[in-house]
Amino acid sequence: MGNAKGKSVNAKSIDIYEADYQKIAAKKKPQFVSPAENLVRAVRHEKLEIGTDRVALDFGCGDGRNCQYLHNLGYQVVALDFSQGALNATRARFDDGDVELLFIEEKTAVPILEESLDFIVAWEIMHWLGYEKIFDFYMADFKRLMRPDAKLVMTMPTEDHFLSRDSIQSGRSEFVIQHPTRNGCPIYSPNLRTLHEKIGTLEMAITRTLRYDLYDSVPFDGLGYPFSMYVFCLENS
Ligand SMILES: C[S@@+](CC[C@H](N)C(=O)[O-])C[C@H]1O[C@@H](n2cnc3c(N)ncnc32)[C@H](O)[C@@H]1O
Repeated sequence: MGNAKGKSVNAKSIDIYEADYQKIAAKKKPQFVSPAENLVRAVRHEKLEIGTDRVALDFGCGDGRNCQYLHNLGYQVVALDFSQGALNATRARFDDGDVELLFIEEKTAVPILEESLDFIVAWEIMHWLGYEKIFDFYMADFKRLMRPDAKLVMTMPTEDHFLSRDSIQSGRSEFVIQHPTRNGCPIYSPNLRTLHEKIGTLEMAITRTLRYDLYDSVPFDGLGYPFSMYVFCLENS
């Protein structure tokens, strides 16, 4: 698939993530002890709990909380991030050889052979890709990587997430966030109709939609903003 062309358009986000995860990795203590509870819900609903002989990609792995969960289910886990700090934090959770770490530059195709994944998790990352063209690039790359019966579980902000409200106010699905801890980061938050159309164009189908709400429980966002996400469970159609 190659790379999307052009210089970094998301330098601000890269710097913020790298600084955050370098600190977390240096503490040698995970940021999160448990996996995302709503990923666990999605996995149970979609009957993905048995990962033996199956390969899972955690796209945007962060501190590795979800990698550890997937590994415990029996998946062979590939942890991918554009932050070396995030990969260091993830590695610290595992014994040697129990996780494959993949560093990629922004807008770079995932360096994995086509049709070799059973499960892709993209948890709280897709909107941070920042731009429609990068979102589209990775959705097409996921499609390339998925085996015929593979599943993709990804989150996107709901309409009442504070990010989407910014987008509704500005009338655009691409915008730059004004927020004390993420100021200046680009966000891509399309409406549901656009999202459904994109998924259909890729010949994928939504098998389940869940939703969760977090308010003050997120360390970097203890500010009382509405923080509500959809979880989309997808498969090839
Ligand atoms: C909000 S964190 C979520 C981390 C993890 N998925 C979790 O749920 O704990 C987003 C993660 O995606 C990574 N990320 C953001 N944009 C990326 C990109 N274009 N390519 C690779 N990783 C990216 C960040 O470095 C960060 O680790």
